[in-house]
Amino acid sequence: MSQEANKTINQPKNRVEGKLKVTGEARYSAEFAPPNLAYGAIVPSKIAKGRIKKIDTEAAQKAPGVIAILTHQNTPRLNSPPEEFIGDNGLGESRQPLQDNIVHYAGQHIAVVIADTQVRAERAAELVKVTYDWQEPLVRLEQTSSSVFEPELFVGREKLQISRGDVTQALNSAAIKLEQTYTTPVEHHNPIETSATVAEWSGERLTVYDTTRFIKGVQQVLAQSFGMPQAKVRVVCHYIGGSFGSKGFQWGHVVLAALAAKQTGRPVRIELSRQQMFTLAGHRPRTIQSLTLAATKEGKLIGIKHATLTHTSPIAQYTESAGLMTKSLYACPNLEISHKLARLNAPTPTVMRAPGQASGMFALESAMDELAYMLNIDPVELRLRNYAEVEPQEQKPWSSKHLKECYERGIERFGWQQRNPLLRSMGDDDTLIGWGMATTTYPGMRQPASAKATIFANGNAVVSSATHEQGSGVYTVMSQLAADSLGLPLERVKFELGESQFPKAPVTGGSWTTASVGSAVVAATEAVKDKVLTLALGDRTSPLFGSSQDQIAISDGRLFLKDRPSVDETYAEILSRANTDAVEAEVKTEPGDEREKFAFFSFGTHFAEVKIDPFGQVRVSRIVGVYDVGRILNPQTARSQAVGGMVMGIGMALMEHTITDYRYGRYVNPNLSEYLVPVNADIDNFDISFIDRPDPYINPMGSRGLGEISIVGVAAAIANAVYHATGKRVRDLPITLDKLL
Ligand code: MOS
Repeated sequence: MSQEANKTINQPKNRVEGKLKVTGEARYSAEFAPPNLAYGAIVPSKIAKGRIKKIDTEAAQKAPGVIAILTHQNTPRLNSPPEEFIGDNGLGESRQPLQDNIVHYAGQHIAVVIADTQVRAERAAELVKVTYDWQEPLVRLEQTSSSVFEPELFVGREKLQISRGDVTQALNSAAIKLEQTYTTPVEHHNPIETSATVAEWSGERLTVYDTTRFIKGVQQVLAQSFGMPQAKVRVVCHYIGGSFGSKGFQWGHVVLAALAAKQTGRPVRIELSRQQMFTLAGHRPRTIQSLTLAATKEGKLIGIKHATLTHTSPIAQYTESAGLMTKSLYACPNLEISHKLARLNAPTPTVMRAPGQASGMFALESAMDELAYMLNIDPVELRLRNYAEVEPQEQKPWSSKHLKECYERGIERFGWQQRNPLLRSMGDDDTLIGWGMATTTYPGMRQPASAKATIFANGNAVVSSATHEQGSGVYTVMSQLAADSLGLPLERVKFELGESQFPKAPVTGGSWTTASVGSAVVAATEAVKDKVLTLALGDRTSPLFGSSQDQIAISDGRLFLKDRPSVDETYAEILSRANTDAVEAEVKTEPGDEREKFAFFSFGTHFAEVKIDPFGQVRVSRIVGVYDVGRILNPQTARSQAVGGMVMGIGMALMEHTITDYRYGRYVNPNLSEYLVPVNADIDNFDISFIDRPDPYINPMGSRGLGEISIVGVAAAIANAVYHATGKRVRDLPITLDKLL
């Protein structure tokens, strides 16, 4: 069976939900307003460590509109979150909110005021008086020697302490050695939509409209928290206004909204403010990375040591795994990767776009640039001399790797051959110009995922999966996959997501949604198509009767004989004759033993040009990004993803950092006027292209993900360009003007 014309895959397609979004019809979580809705406001802790001695709610209780106040004193005990979401396994907080009087970080929820309007809830929250038993908080990563430990796993799946060969011997014997420290700051995701939960009980059943990219996870957490079957918890999230790694796991406010609704007998909404997004929804933690590269005079790496110190909160174990890409990117026989984790009295960190990869590759790709200058070798040439023909840690073949093509295309599109390697050589009196580059890489992951496909009597189809749309194009790309597989035009296929009763899908993260859920969509649509075809082929009254499946093609909902296209029948005709309203198939897919045989990674390059004015202001005038991410399903949404990653890369390089007041352990810039992210005026010229060759092993589409690879290495490419322009090597992000004086 095959489909002939009208393929949508690999074609630029507008977002199928675009109109709903721009007309305001798309409903985001906070917009669900069941009748009698009440509003919860969180009271945050003002201290970073200690105990609540007394919590006086009397004045708040009397404020207008107040319905109830939850504190640790009147909140029922909840079950702990599932093991798979906490500790070394996951990213969640191990402690449920309002269960005791202990304060672990500033901003932690210590009470929730529920009132009849949002404003009244917030006003009353300010009237809650808390007396603390203050303790000296541990807030500086540099002062943590006593609380530091070596975590074993990143999110339950990747080893954090790794070695091969004899790195000490390699470092001692090397002709060339570079040893430097690179640091990255606390950064916050800042999606335009802040996190929100609307919770409603109806008897024993709980419905939650939650801003989440893990519907099934939230369902599981809520069910366990309240000791109820998962089937009685419904989680809904049809649209997400960006996440970048936030919104992924259980956060306290989700459980609190459900709890408040239960206690008050009314639906309750808790919506985090922008300020609360800085403390109650995760962040990218700081890293202090010491990196040693040992090489021969010819620029062959013989030893790499990459040691990361980072931090988590007292009630979580998230580790920014900055060393992991260093393990796999370059051929090098001797290596040691280590991660140390400190428990600070700071809010709980979490994944943020390319968690570990973005921060770690800033260090590695800056160091490679430094090595290139030490050796007087072109930075691209140095990388080619260390090109890994197989994955160097496990010596497995790559599933598919076209990194050399990425370098070649990047050189050509950027015009790298015109680069004068001398420092400060390319500008004029007014403007310094610098050119820098970096490699990018990201794992090609895939998770188990399920989908259901239904063909209806009118010949239209619906495909569903409990996945998410956080702005990356999932509705569109899944619709395309389903349409092509079913031989239907895009308009006749509807893809539904965002409901916990749909077939199980993984958290939308790790750039794996297309690779995972796409596989399920293809399998489910193939299965339903087979069912319909079987109906026709076995029915004497069908014109297709007696043919075999491989003689049939489908186009525009019409099944026909390949060699005699006039012999045909539509889906609608087949279903109508079979006297059935719908035919459906649900399929679970998962990766197989190909994961044992091959190393799955995506690759790419970033080439950046910076222009620096006499006051030290850096502008990124252009970036060329070339990506090898397997087959591109929709060049338009793919490009959007890459633009997003590059914009965040510019933010990471030049602007983004959350500042802690070390006296109090509080953030001083938790808002968008002082936490700077790039705006249109900061973005000039992006040249984005894809190698677009299918990965033969990852899945039926040949597609790896591309949500995160486009941020990785951008900060290094820019830092390397800044060095080329100025002769100043900045190893501490972001590269703000003061560091260039
Ligand atoms: Mo993504 S920040 O790896 O969930």
